[in-house]
Amino acid sequence: MSSYPEFRPRRLRRTPALRRAFAETTISPTDLVAPLFVKEGINEPVRVASMPGQSQHTLESLVKESREIVERGVAGLLLFGIPAAKDEGGSESFNRKGVVQQGLRALKDEFGDEVLLIADLCLCEYTSHGHCGVLNGQTIDNDATLDVYQRIAVSQAEAGADIIAPSGMMDGQVGAIRSALDGGGYDERAILAYAAKYASSFYGPFREAAEGAPQFGDRRSYQQDPSNLDEALREVALDIAEGADAVMVKPAIGYLDVLRAVKERFRYPTAAYNVSGEYSMLMAAAERGWIDERAATLETLTAIRRAGADLVITYHAKKAAEWLT
Ligand code: PBG
Repeated sequence: MSSYPEFRPRRLRRTPALRRAFAETTISPTDLVAPLFVKEGINEPVRVASMPGQSQHTLESLVKESREIVERGVAGLLLFGIPAAKDEGGSESFNRKGVVQQGLRALKDEFGDEVLLIADLCLCEYTSHGHCGVLNGQTIDNDATLDVYQRIAVSQAEAGADIIAPSGMMDGQVGAIRSALDGGGYDERAILAYAAKYASSFYGPFREAAEGAPQFGDRRSYQQDPSNLDEALREVALDIAEGADAVMVKPAIGYLDVLRAVKERFRYPTAAYNVSGEYSMLMAAAERGWIDERAATLETLTAIRRAGADLVITYHAKKAAEWLT
């Protein structure tokens, strides 16, 4: 490489056409997944105050909102359910007529294979205590939780989920779900493992949207410590060994180094979850006119892709897809 003045890096930045031609990272609607919330027992969608532009949906508004997202070419929908009643064991989570199962069915009927249907698999929206597993006293019983996860997985697959995405961070969850799906005749349904999911303060707004905040304690005995990178690589290795078809790093923005390391080490289909707090911070600043929503959103999504994400799960998906087409 020659140096200045023969070599002038600005030459390739002079015009939009040059910049476009030499862009190293691209982003398109087909790289994006939109999370959606469906709630039982409401007649109108309910706006989520801490997440501008996001709502808890009725079955009807879920299909309508999804239609607008699908028309913009977004790759997939990630569905969360909020049941009308919670109990200690989270039994609504595997009810064949439960809210998320009904939502999946409605979306499958409407879209067929036009869009990927991804079901978040967890217990925190369904348990009265808000933890992601079943309790034994004040602690989470890992292996008893796996039995419940197996039932949820089969019910979600039966309802039409193309991909099951376990987010509870129980040990052995991917293997348990894989064997339940295979045993239930769903060996072609994929698993997207929330493999490296951190105990993050950036899930705050989501807990308002999904009504799944822990009623005592926190999630640090199952979600990862934000200081750990080697541990994330071990978690990903385990999930791949247990049969994960794709892996996820979550959150995204504060964990781009983890994402890069996971992609480089495993060369596996990799998703990143641009979580609620990351979304809400950007939207709050944009509402105040402190940053430009469109520019900041596209820059954020590009950075997540550049770090190694094949798929970006993001509440910005609908608007971003519109800007990108
Ligand atoms: C459920 C779950 C959470 C998120 C996705 N699945 C919340 C949590 O772990 O507390 C967070 C998503 C977001 O913040 O956007 N376990």
